[in-house]
Amino acid sequence: MGKTILIETDNLLLRQFSLDDAGKVLQMSQEEGMCIWIPDQAYKDERESTGVLKFLIGQYPGEPAPQRRPFVLGVELKQTGELIGHVGLSPAENSVEIGYAIEENHQGKGYATEAVRAMSRWAVRELELSEILGIAAGENPGSCRVLEKAGYSLVAEKEKNMRGRCLWCKIYQYTQLSAGIIEMN
Ligand SMILES: CC(C)(COP(=O)(O)OP(=O)(O)OC[C@H]1O[C@@H](n2cnc3c(N)ncnc32)[C@H](O)[C@@H]1OP(=O)(O)O)[C@@H](O)C(=O)NCCC(=O)NCCS
Repeated sequence: MGKTILIETDNLLLRQFSLDDAGKVLQMSQEEGMCIWIPDQAYKDERESTGVLKFLIGQYPGEPAPQRRPFVLGVELKQTGELIGHVGLSPAENSVEIGYAIEENHQGKGYATEAVRAMSRWAVRELELSEILGIAAGENPGSCRVLEKAGYSLVAEKEKNMRGRCLWCKIYQYTQLSAGIIEMN
């Protein structure tokens, strides 16, 4: 079955996951950056990645409602059709948080920025979200820089328990103003 493409950018398709992605999702999940920064998304085997994909795919029917349930898309490279990462919105801090990762092979090419910018703009326009939060550890400068380049503004810094580790975190915000939907008088 074809995968539904929701957002297209210059280089990427942000599209729904399918169960065929389980092997590649497992492989990407075991890379060093994932194990350090998103350890709860580092899977031990294909059974686990398949289970997670089943859950994410089960959230697709109906209007995305990231205030209540995760909405996560695969990031596919248009040129080759390869799955190279994910970008998604999930409930957090009484709001919605963006999450993202790009596989090592394709890092440093601007793809995370492209995916985060496109997903954020789409979500505030189409889902009419009033804000999206980006929460990154200060020690993860790549992640902070992605948010800054995608149009997020730093709104707070605080110590936060991130997946069992107490880390100094930077909290960024993306709004309708960031997306250029409303303008400041
Ligand atoms: C963080 C991550 C998503 C960046 O992906 P990417 O596709 O390489 O990012 P981009 O190419 O869009 O780079 C955006 C900016 O970040 C900078 N950057 C990327 N990695 C960096 C690093 N390790 N240190 C410093 N800057 C970095 C880039 O240089 C670029 O800035 P510039 O244009 O001013 O030079 C990727 O490294 C990753 O998946 N890491 C593991 C998972 C993760 O940390 N996710 C975020 C959790 S909050």
